[in-house]
Amino acid sequence: MLSHDIVIVGGGLAGLRAAVGLCEKYDVAILSKVHPIRSHSIAAQGGINASLANHPEGKDDSWEKHTFDTIKGSDYLADQHAVEIMCRQAPIIVYEMEHWGCPFSRFEDGSIAQRPFGGAGYPRTCYSADITGHVLLNTLYERAVSKGVKVYSEWYAIALVIDNGQCHGIIAFDLINGKIFPIKSKVTVFATGGYGRVYQYSTNALINTGSGIGIAYKAGVPIKDMEFVQFHPTGLIGTNILITEACRGEGGYLINNKNERFMEKYAPKAMELAPRDIVSRSIQTEIEEGRGFDHPLGKYIKLDLRHLGAQKIMEKLPGIRKICIDFIGIDPIYELIPIMPCQHYSMGGIDTNEKTETEIKGFYAAGECACVSVHGANRLGGNSLLDTIVFGKLSAIAIDEYLSGNNVNPEERPLNAKLNDVETNIKKIANNTGERPFSILSDLSKNMSANVGIFRKKDELALALEKIMEIKERYKNVHVSSTSLHMNYELLNAIELGYMIEVAHTIAIGAYLREESRGAHFRRDFSIRNDENWLKHTIARLGADGTPEISFKEVVITRYQPMERKY
Ligand code: FUM
Repeated sequence: MLSHDIVIVGGGLAGLRAAVGLCEKYDVAILSKVHPIRSHSIAAQGGINASLANHPEGKDDSWEKHTFDTIKGSDYLADQHAVEIMCRQAPIIVYEMEHWGCPFSRFEDGSIAQRPFGGAGYPRTCYSADITGHVLLNTLYERAVSKGVKVYSEWYAIALVIDNGQCHGIIAFDLINGKIFPIKSKVTVFATGGYGRVYQYSTNALINTGSGIGIAYKAGVPIKDMEFVQFHPTGLIGTNILITEACRGEGGYLINNKNERFMEKYAPKAMELAPRDIVSRSIQTEIEEGRGFDHPLGKYIKLDLRHLGAQKIMEKLPGIRKICIDFIGIDPIYELIPIMPCQHYSMGGIDTNEKTETEIKGFYAAGECACVSVHGANRLGGNSLLDTIVFGKLSAIAIDEYLSGNNVNPEERPLNAKLNDVETNIKKIANNTGERPFSILSDLSKNMSANVGIFRKKDELALALEKIMEIKERYKNVHVSSTSLHMNYELLNAIELGYMIEVAHTIAIGAYLREESRGAHFRRDFSIRNDENWLKHTIARLGADGTPEISFKEVVITRYQPMERKY
């Protein structure tokens, strides 16, 4: 049987940072369903937050101010002790990445450049033009390779094996060779990213199915705050490609069909740099009230960068210019960019503490698939890259403590039993005669965008849940056209779809039950935040009847009492 001390599932920033922190002492393997440098971290554009105080207007910045902005941005749902840890760590990990060779953009004096981002009191987002995820990921990948981390590229984790409260490893699908293997490990880390593809309109890569969250949930691990789904204000119309918040950080305007900078009505001080939940709702409101523009692909708002000038656009936003030219034939130096809000990030995920521990011994989670919680009900732009690297690093420290202090003996018996279940399920899919996975996924994602979107209401959420139950029934008979295991993406899609349906169910049920509005969760029928009844995390566990069992958990408040959020 394949065996490693530590198996990390996911080759993005969180997984790579955890591997780099562990590989000198332990036998570490990364398993990634795509080559690690095709992980979705590569797509991050605008930057990573750290209170370096390099910007001339940010000289008074501090980790405490970063902490406060993050907690306020989270609509007070973040666990404050965890936010403090992340914001203290931020300058340390940014300088560490710099010293490991990450090519950040620079100010004239040679210091790391910083730009304004939404919801931040100071310009604290460190960046590399508009390819910050790309440079961070390549830096960490090179470091992992140079240190000899074993990478199983194009291997997919199908199941997590938990027995008696302990994780014994995973069942893995080697896509290239068409084989399924159990992998035994003392510790398993999930760094599997977000679930954007559960929605029809998402900035996320096709690989972002959220199946890691679904796998953990199906294995009995609790997941947290799934109803909090981030919609990025500026997705490119038609393709939903991310048009970075850095466009607004560098001074871009949002314009309606009356040629108004409408954000002054919704966030008079912060304007386009209000947090994402507020900007997305404002755009959606403009569109719903008839002040959007029409396009065959939907209604939209315009993002104006023209006043920034050719030099600034080409120096600071070259990737955005290229995306606009290549995908819609628009050059933002001269023309306005058609944008609409779309799903971007998962605030919820696998329930962990600030050490990335779950309630299962030997099972850890970090990055977007995890919910520590540092983002609460709404994440600030630039805090996602930070979360991945900080909690990847802290995960390595916690795992070392665990392995140094315990004699951990994973067993083969539960792995073999789970392998048997997985093989039986694959045979069943092969013999089914129902629909193919793409048609079921299409209905699932349309349902989520239509009924569990930016604005929510009880009857729409009830409809969403009803449709999910129907989709679950249809999925029982999902069918694929080839039974080969070799590079069979349709089979992979069918397996992942099962997990995506579970993820969607937990999002919809959390949104249905939470009768208040907080951060990215906005209920038209309960439009006010209700701290008395709802200042608490939602926990979902797989119930005995196969549906989510919901409970609640206290939010950790340290220094910042909840206040009204004004921008
Ligand atoms: O807009 C962006 O560049 C995205 C940043 C983020 O999600 O943190």
